[in-house]
Amino acid sequence: MKKGLLTLLVFAVTISCSSGQNEKPTTLKEAYKDYFYIGAAVNTSQYMEQDERAKPILETQFNSITPENDLKWERIHPELDVYDFEGPDKYVEFGVKNNMFIIGHTLVWHSQTPNWVFEDENGNPLTRDALLARMKDHITTIVTRYKGKINGWDVVNEALNEDGSMRESKWYNIIGPDFIEKAFEYAHAADPDAELYYNDYNLYNAAKADGAVRLVKSIQEKGIHVTGIGMQGHYSINGNPKPEEVEASIIKFGELGVVAVTELDVDVLPPAFEYMGAEISMRAELRDELNPYTERMPDSIKQAQINSFVDYFNIYLKHFDKINRVTTWGVTDGDSWKNGWPVSGRTNYALLFDREGNEKEVVNVLMELPSKK
Ligand code: G3I
Repeated sequence: MKKGLLTLLVFAVTISCSSGQNEKPTTLKEAYKDYFYIGAAVNTSQYMEQDERAKPILETQFNSITPENDLKWERIHPELDVYDFEGPDKYVEFGVKNNMFIIGHTLVWHSQTPNWVFEDENGNPLTRDALLARMKDHITTIVTRYKGKINGWDVVNEALNEDGSMRESKWYNIIGPDFIEKAFEYAHAADPDAELYYNDYNLYNAAKADGAVRLVKSIQEKGIHVTGIGMQGHYSINGNPKPEEVEASIIKFGELGVVAVTELDVDVLPPAFEYMGAEISMRAELRDELNPYTERMPDSIKQAQINSFVDYFNIYLKHFDKINRVTTWGVTDGDSWKNGWPVSGRTNYALLFDREGNEKEVVNVLMELPSKK
């Protein structure tokens, strides 16, 4: 090549690189910075910075965190007069240190809540007023402690049945349907600036989505603050659910406020039963045919998962004006609850980073989507 031509070529390459136009984002949070936060649920060793694989991933790829278990009632408030803030304080510290949008999960839920919460000292069910007082103490104590630091709360989790009716939990049976609005009222009073969400799974199901709309609308109409709806997003490959179903719910929820994708994962294993969702009381026995990829994920399955993540992220990007966060339910495949539910002891690959902490191919594909928008 002639020297003049070579100089010209070097010059052109230098200009195009330094202009920044060809620079591709190298992390998820950077790729989506103009659209929404990219979050991950973290376990104890992750926010304690003891998990060396997860630490660099969290620090570079994510700008929002949710505590997978440690702010649930049984952990943070195990006994009537005992609050355990050691882990939660560290969780919040980790998020503040890394400039993350910090989520609190979850204040009022039927699951992972000790029985004593609903009983008096003799083991009899509490009255409505006594349970409301207990709920208020719990919410006020925790939300006040992290005021200005925890940016968004899953105030009430999973209060609906699949047909959109109210789940008959102990909260519902003792207090009545207004336990939900009371929870929002107490949370808002404790931190008026915090985002407050109603969070549930299977909200792509139209009947359940309509139930969530009725519920949130009725609370907002009373002048009580609800920021929006958290769609968990425990999905599976091969169009389960269909992206159009997810989109239809996002559109409905967008009319009431903000939509948060709170617990995304994409299961690649054969379904143990037809029902999909996150009802943790449902379980199935381990059988070989339910656990086919113990060594590695075959290429066809890997591609099917990439396609699923891309389909969902394309919907999220299309509706980014309504969505403030997309959070995956865990950091690496090995951390995921999907290895243990609904069948324990399986090898699933539900997340974006592999068991060694390496980026899966899907990460690169997702990082390119915003520029194609
Ligand atoms: O930490 C204990 C350990 O000490 C004990 O030896 C072991 C024995 O079972 O249990 C450990 O606790 C488990 C905990 O996860 C931590 O691994 C609990 O049994 C187990 O029930 C718990 O499961 C969690 C589940 O919620 C129930 O709280 C999952 O990790 C967590 O991913 C899952 O998250 C839920 C969301 O909060 C709400 N939406 C659905 C989602 C998936 O179920």
